[in-house]
Amino acid sequence: MINNQILGIDVGASGIKGAIVNVKTGELITERFRVPTPSPAKPKAVAKSVLTIVNHFKWKGLIGVGFPAVIQNGIAKTAANIDNKWIGTNVEKLLSKTTGCPVSVRNDADVAGIAELQFGAGKNKKGTIILITIGSGLGSAVFTDGVLLANSELGHLKFKGMIAEHYAADSIRKKMNLNWNEWGKRFNEYLQHLEFIFSPDLILLGGGSSKKFIKYKNLLKLDCEVIPAKLLNHAGIIGAACLASLNKNTLN
Ligand code: BGC
Repeated sequence: MINNQILGIDVGASGIKGAIVNVKTGELITERFRVPTPSPAKPKAVAKSVLTIVNHFKWKGLIGVGFPAVIQNGIAKTAANIDNKWIGTNVEKLLSKTTGCPVSVRNDADVAGIAELQFGAGKNKKGTIILITIGSGLGSAVFTDGVLLANSELGHLKFKGMIAEHYAADSIRKKMNLNWNEWGKRFNEYLQHLEFIFSPDLILLGGGSSKKFIKYKNLLKLDCEVIPAKLLNHAGIIGAACLASLNKNTLN
C-alpha cells in the first residue's frame, strides 16, 4: 500500500462510484468518478464498469468494494437490488480477475458504517449503533462498541406483512408518490421497530435521503438519538477502502 492509498468503489443500484482514499485519514484524495450501473446489472457487465473506474485512475494496487448484497467470504448470497445472476458469484474473484488487482468485497452498508464510525458521525460513540442507508433499498450496519455484526440486512426484516424495504425505502417514496410526511411516518414506524428489537444508543442515517433529513426529522419519535451520517455519499467508498486495508493486515 503506497502512502496509505487504496481505491474504494461503491456499487449501487443506479451508479458505481470510485475514488482513491487515504485510509489513515479517511479523506478522498481524488475526485469521485461515477459510471451508471449497467442495466441489466449482470456480473460481467458490472465487472466491466468496475474496470472502467480502475482504468480511469490508472490504478494498480489494493481495491475495496462495497456491494449491495450479503457477502460471505467474497461470495454474494442475495441480490435484492441487483441482478439475480449475482447469487453464488464469487465477487472478489471476478473483480480481481477482471481488474488484475487484489479486491476485497463487503456489504455496502457495512462498509459505509465502518467509515462513519471511524471518521464520521459515529466517531468516538460507544454502545450499540445502527446505520441505516436509505436508497433503492434499506441497508444496515450494526455495531456494538465498534464491533460490526456483518450482513445484518435489517432492511429485509418482515414488517407490516412485507419486507421492510418494500415499505420504507426511498424508492417506495418515489414509486408511490408519497410526500415527505407520509414517507416519514412509515420510516418512523420502521425505526421504532428496530429500536424495540435492539435498544440502540444511536441510529445513523445514510444514503441519498439522509441529505433530506430536515424534511422528516420531526416525525421521528425515538428514545435514542437519530442523526444523519456525515460522510454522505462518500461513506461507501471510504469504508470499502478501509476494509481492504484491514483485510490485508488482520482479517482472513
Ligand atoms: C440489500 C442490502 C444492501 C441494501 C442497500 C438491500 O436491498 O439487501 O444488502 O445493503 O439494499 O444497498
